[in-house]
Amino acid sequence: MSHGEKTERMTELTEMLKARNAVLVAHYYTDPLMQELAEVSGGFIGDSLEMARFGANTDAQTIVVAGVRFMGETAKILSPEKRVIMPTLAAECSLDLGCPPEEFAVFRAQHPERTVVVYANTSAAVKAQADWVVTSSIAVDVINHLATRGEKILWAPDQHLGRYVATKTGADMLLWNGSCVVHEEFKAQGLQKLKAVYPEAAVLVHPESPEAVLALADVIGSTTQLLKATQNLPNQQFIVATDRGIFYKMQQASPQKSFIEAPTGGSGATCRSCAHCPWMAMNQLDNLRSSLLADDQEVHVDEGMRMKALVPLQRMLDFSAGLKL
Ligand code: 13P
Ligand code: SF4
Repeated sequence: MSHGEKTERMTELTEMLKARNAVLVAHYYTDPLMQELAEVSGGFIGDSLEMARFGANTDAQTIVVAGVRFMGETAKILSPEKRVIMPTLAAECSLDLGCPPEEFAVFRAQHPERTVVVYANTSAAVKAQADWVVTSSIAVDVINHLATRGEKILWAPDQHLGRYVATKTGADMLLWNGSCVVHEEFKAQGLQKLKAVYPEAAVLVHPESPEAVLALADVIGSTTQLLKATQNLPNQQFIVATDRGIFYKMQQASPQKSFIEAPTGGSGATCRSCAHCPWMAMNQLDNLRSSLLADDQEVHVDEGMRMKALVPLQRMLDFSAGLKL
């Protein structure tokens, strides 16, 4: 797309959003063009906790969520009076897909004595069965809080984040065995070799990555926490083990620094997701435009389920407000 075409497209979409009293809320993993549109149209870019918080507090009548389905559902659960639309409702998440509500109900019923904590990357139907919802930015704090009260945890769905949190907090956690198709592919051996090539680089890792990769990290955190690390650390180079969509904001915040993708393939192996979420990639300007025109990608959540899912979600937001996160 030429510079002129891009400006034209951004202007057209900004006007379409304005005409609908809509605000665009985008995740860092979406296409840089989508993030740029969020910036120029007065929208928001953030991690999943910040997206939820922004959606809950905006005055706009319509929230356009560029991300994956659970993010759209979260916005709807928190703001039932608003319309929530997405560029495409087909944008899923392997963690959400790997934790069907019926199977989760069986797991939960087997351990009634445990406090149920689910990651935000789940369907509304799974959240509706939980005591707490957490995102990666707040998981350690919430579990610490519960462990201090002597509570045992039933955790779903991301096993790597669950293991990391259990190790950090010492909490007794029973883990569902889900994983993220993107972060699961980062390879410790390749990362070790890359560290040798760039000895001055800080290694930033999202906690959905495997244990051996986390062990090589200088900083482990949510997307926003990793972005902040690139601004706060003195290093000029960063090896980044998360979706490469975040390079847009990292580079924008620190134009003089360089960012290197952590390796996803072993020797001779080919990557499947290649550090890029296939579902996040479905959010494009073209389908955003069609969604706004056709008005056929609205998120709906059954009201009974919404009321149940709201309780653990609101608990997370209240807790995060106390932490001033
Ligand atoms: P964050 O909460 O860190 O933005 O993570 C969301 C996600 O889907 C990571 O894969
Ligand atoms: Fe889900 Fe992984 Fe994509 Fe995040 S990157 S939305 S966890 S599949």
